[in-house]
Amino acid sequence: MGIKIVSTGSFLPNKVLTNFDLEKMVDTSDEWITTRTGIKERRISEEETTSDLAAKAALRALSEKNPEDVDLIVVATATPDAFFPSTACKVQSKLANKNAIAFDISAACTGFIYGLYIADSIMRTKGIDRALVIGAERFSKIVNWKDRTTCILFGDGAGATLLEKSNEEGILGFDLGADGAYGDLLNVPSVGSNEEFPFYIKMKGNEVFKVAVRTMVESSLRVLERTGISPNEIKLLIPHQANVRIIKAVAERLKVPNDRIFINVNKYGNTSAASIPIALDEAIKTGKLKKGDLVLLVAFGGGFTWGSCVLKV
Ligand code: ACO
Repeated sequence: MGIKIVSTGSFLPNKVLTNFDLEKMVDTSDEWITTRTGIKERRISEEETTSDLAAKAALRALSEKNPEDVDLIVVATATPDAFFPSTACKVQSKLANKNAIAFDISAACTGFIYGLYIADSIMRTKGIDRALVIGAERFSKIVNWKDRTTCILFGDGAGATLLEKSNEEGILGFDLGADGAYGDLLNVPSVGSNEEFPFYIKMKGNEVFKVAVRTMVESSLRVLERTGISPNEIKLLIPHQANVRIIKAVAERLKVPNDRIFINVNKYGNTSAASIPIALDEAIKTGKLKKGDLVLLVAFGGGFTWGSCVLKV
């Protein structure tokens, strides 16, 4: 018995915020943002909550399937609608599902890969047949729109995957890690801290950059070794979409050529836990991935956390 991602879906809010719009809000320029990050525009949710974005992506992943048949809903998010109930419980209600276990996980931008690992483990050991793993974020709500060092980077959106038990093996292996000693380099304080509200993203960008490249490369090499797959067998590298320079540096060290790297950070910015499932959905829907292709997912985020996964689609 194997576990397979049988379908994907994504949802991006309509409002587009371009670099030129940001030029009117903070002391920045399209040229600076494009050169340093590769981002040209991002989506902003004006009305939809994180659980709305997640439920819309999930319905697209479910397509014709009955939401009632889902046994497990995992939502990776750093921007939940509420401290509780979980975003996953809100998604369950929006899907009119009564049969699923539902919970959120917090691993920042690595959250989707952590979620996939947890769902895969539960499905293999606990008799769960069908799971939704969703990454959903509304980072526009935790960005300080007066801080040019962070507000240019992030966007809102959601991506969802539907996992089922299968005769074929679709999830071939994982490598996950964390190092909480780096927590202060990238964080958003909350009510359990001694910080004062409002809470915004704080980041030491250039220090994050260096650790991101190193850990993403090391994690990728470990998962490839563990699964016995060489980089040139990988049809598509889907890295967390934070910055084109990070993506290119990781791909170069892994010796993955440009035509086998998936990039959409130019359109959506960094959507944190949503970035990989949105990218996976786009890669499948645009025909960049075909049945049987091997894919390497790799992410890095606050915590620090990192993780990679090899899939056969
Ligand atoms: N517009 C114009 N100038 C700016 C801007 C801006 N938006 N932001 C910063 N600057 C200035 C700085 O003030 C600095 O000026 P100074 O030299 O006079 O002091 C100069 O540009 C260079 O700043 P750096 O921070 O050194 O620029 P860098 O090349 O490192 O790029 C960036 C910054 C894009 C943030 C980069 O470090 C990066 O992408 N880091 C990784 C961030 C990341 O991926 N974070 C998310 C992780 S995922 C998660 O868990 C949320």
